[in-house]
Amino acid sequence: MVKSPQKSAMYIARGFSDQGWRLLLLLVPPLSLTVFICVYATPLSPFSTFAPLASFFFNRTVNSTTSADDPCVLPLNRSQPVGVRSWKDELYRSRMAVCLVGGARRFELTGPSIVENILNLYPNSDLFLHSPLDKNAFKFSLLKVAPRIATVRIFQPKPIPETEAEVRVLTAANSPNGIQGLLQYFNLVEGCLTMIEEYQTQNNFKYDWVVRTRVDGYWNAPLGPQNFIAGHYLVPSGSTYGGLNDRLGIGDFNSSKVALSRLSLIPKLDSAGLRLLNSETSFKAQLTTYGVPFVTKRLPFCIVTDRKYRFPPYRFGVPVATLSSPGPLSGAKCRPCTRVCEGSCVAGVMPLLNKGWSWTNWENGTLKLCDAHAEWERGWEKIFDEVAGKKRAAVRKRISGLKLKQCVNDFNEMNRRSSKWESPPPEEICKLGVGQN
Ligand SMILES: *[C@@H]1O[C@H](CO)[C@@H](O)[C@H](O)[C@H]1NC(C)=O
Ligand SMILES: *[C@@H]1O[C@H](CO)[C@@H](O)[C@H](O)[C@H]1NC(C)=O
Ligand SMILES: *[C@@H]1O[C@H](CO)[C@@H](O)[C@H](O)[C@H]1NC(C)=O
Ligand SMILES: *[C@@H]1O[C@H](CO)[C@@H](O)[C@H](O)[C@H]1NC(C)=O
Ligand SMILES: *[C@@H]1O[C@H](CO)[C@@H](O)[C@H](O)[C@H]1NC(C)=O
Repeated sequence: MVKSPQKSAMYIARGFSDQGWRLLLLLVPPLSLTVFICVYATPLSPFSTFAPLASFFFNRTVNSTTSADDPCVLPLNRSQPVGVRSWKDELYRSRMAVCLVGGARRFELTGPSIVENILNLYPNSDLFLHSPLDKNAFKFSLLKVAPRIATVRIFQPKPIPETEAEVRVLTAANSPNGIQGLLQYFNLVEGCLTMIEEYQTQNNFKYDWVVRTRVDGYWNAPLGPQNFIAGHYLVPSGSTYGGLNDRLGIGDFNSSKVALSRLSLIPKLDSAGLRLLNSETSFKAQLTTYGVPFVTKRLPFCIVTDRKYRFPPYRFGVPVATLSSPGPLSGAKCRPCTRVCEGSCVAGVMPLLNKGWSWTNWENGTLKLCDAHAEWERGWEKIFDEVAGKKRAAVRKRISGLKLKQCVNDFNEMNRRSSKWESPPPEEICKLGVGQN
């Protein structure tokens, strides 16, 4: 069911090469104070506003990836100074798809932080949700407050047939549900790309940016504009498991198409002779095989998990952060817990972890650890409420006491506000979970 098409206003936020960037930094002194502040405030965010500027200084020697939408020919408002506001404005006006994938497990804790720190921040961002139907899916009803909802696809999961190429390329090691678990995850991610492409075709435009992340991410600070880097695919640092941290990715549509084609590129990886890949190594292989340049940055979210991990973590073990860690945790695992290890304890534990595996930045008190060898501790709700604050605590309580009628009403509202609803009727989703947890 397709609903009101949305207008496409194309504001291409793009930048220029690293080389040009360094040159520009050298040229900072002669520039105006406004520009200096801009450069200073955003050392790694070469935005489109700078491209014409750079072209001016470098006589258009700066490479731009396409000529059709060259930012140099954008009708810039010359009466406005080039400054912090204008490049941000450009980003805020750009068309952005935010793709959320995964099971709703603890979405009552993570959902409001995603709405607040991603969706509300970029008012043009369209939400795409791709998730399996289960007893927690009713928690997605809290997304009725998202500013713009494109496609909601909550589906009955089915086993995915494993092809010979997939069996050759992938490894079941360290995946809780083996190769099938990887395929289910890849299918969630790639399905989001399909939804985005359908939406683009129906509405005849192309997104400037695609932000792909997981529904189980807890954000303790906004996803800042400095994370949108033209010409690069951005992923969080740490938690690399031999490849690239695949818990979030940000890029333009073309690079996102490579990054999100997690199933359909496997034959390509197969013919390149790649073997025994896990999720992170196959993610990295996709990008390198297609020559998509990537950058890593620290990002203020962690993945809320119910899984148990030995404490203290050692070598290939997994550190589990307290939700109250200042971060940025860059997608490390976390849960609401009483911290058992901080400061010199963390400094003793973290260097023993394999740096190319679950290691994450921990210096300067950013990380505090849980002992996650057992279930979530009694009283975790109170710990969460204290960390998350009144508003998020209120959502948690509302979801835990949600009635069937409220759930159905919320989903109906969400359905009304979304362009496409590829999900079972609200009654069905709500009945699976409400009153049972
Ligand atoms: C800019 O480039 C044009 C042609 O590419 C050249 O004729 C001109 O001299 C250049 N100007 C400067 C200031 O380098
Ligand atoms: C511009 O692109 C060309 C070819 O893609 C490359 O050879 C050249 O080094 C690039 N120049 C800069 C300044 O990045
Ligand atoms: C350009 O900016 C000025 C000052 O902000 C504003 O008054 C004017 O309307 C703008 N012009 C256009 C065409 O946007
Ligand atoms: C994206 O890919 C399309 C088709 O492959 C190509 O025509 C276009 O130039 C690319 N755009 C950018 C910005 O790289
Ligand atoms: C930790 O803080 C010190 C002193 O402020 C600083 O020099 C260092 O770069 C910081 N390390 C990290 C990883 O942020």
